[in-house]
Amino acid sequence: MSTRVLVTGGAGFIGSNFVHHVARTRPDWEIVVLDKLTYAGRRENLADLEGQRGYSFVQGDIADPAVVARVLPGCQYVVNFAAETHVDRSLYDAGGFIQTDMYGAFVLLEEARRSRELKVFVQISTDEVYGSVEKGSSRETDALMPRNPYSASTSWSRAPPTTTVPASSRRRSSPCS
Ligand SMILES: NC(=O)c1ccc[n+]([C@@H]2O[C@H](COP(=O)([O-])OP(=O)(O)OC[C@H]3O[C@@H](n4cnc5c(N)ncnc54)[C@H](O)[C@@H]3O)[C@@H](O)[C@H]2O)c1
Repeated sequence: MSTRVLVTGGAGFIGSNFVHHVARTRPDWEIVVLDKLTYAGRRENLADLEGQRGYSFVQGDIADPAVVARVLPGCQYVVNFAAETHVDRSLYDAGGFIQTDMYGAFVLLEEARRSRELKVFVQISTDEVYGSVEKGSSRETDALMPRNPYSASTSWSRAPPTTTVPASSRRRSSPCS
């Protein structure tokens, strides 16, 4: 059985670069991209992979349990780049950030918890969760100090082990970054 990775938000800025990296460095892997194609997602970012063996693209929402239940089983790796992004946008539409960055990540984790094949779930976040850093850089163990809906909604996935991400991975004893 070949290795399969699910890349959510794979048509976005960082996600599409990651998909190309995997395609280049792991040519024997199957890559499944799940992306809603919001204003930020561009299928053209992945145009060169269309039709290549082992690559497939699904247009859908990570907050839709039926779609996630269709694409996640059978994957050994999940990397979640799907997110509403940018501080300014979050100030005008916080609801969209809560729906995707919190609830969407939760839907993925719930399906991940049921999977028998999954080895690693990587949740991509942002250094915005540590608030304003005047000097130097943050450590992963620093206190979370989100100051806007974008960093607050994505903080949920970086929060201490009383919340769903670490709790889900603990229950399954699987690595979760
Ligand atoms: N760009 C940066 O400089 C930067 C820096 C630090 C962290 N990050 C983090 O990296 C991640 C990706 O950032 P990016 O810059 O590539 O974002 P982006 O806005 O370019 O891409 C986000 C992708 O997610 C997709 N998407 C949005 N909602 C979705 C949903 N409900 N279901 C499925 N797909 C959905 C969009 O269509 C798009 O393709 C985010 O978590 C972001 O916080 C980005």
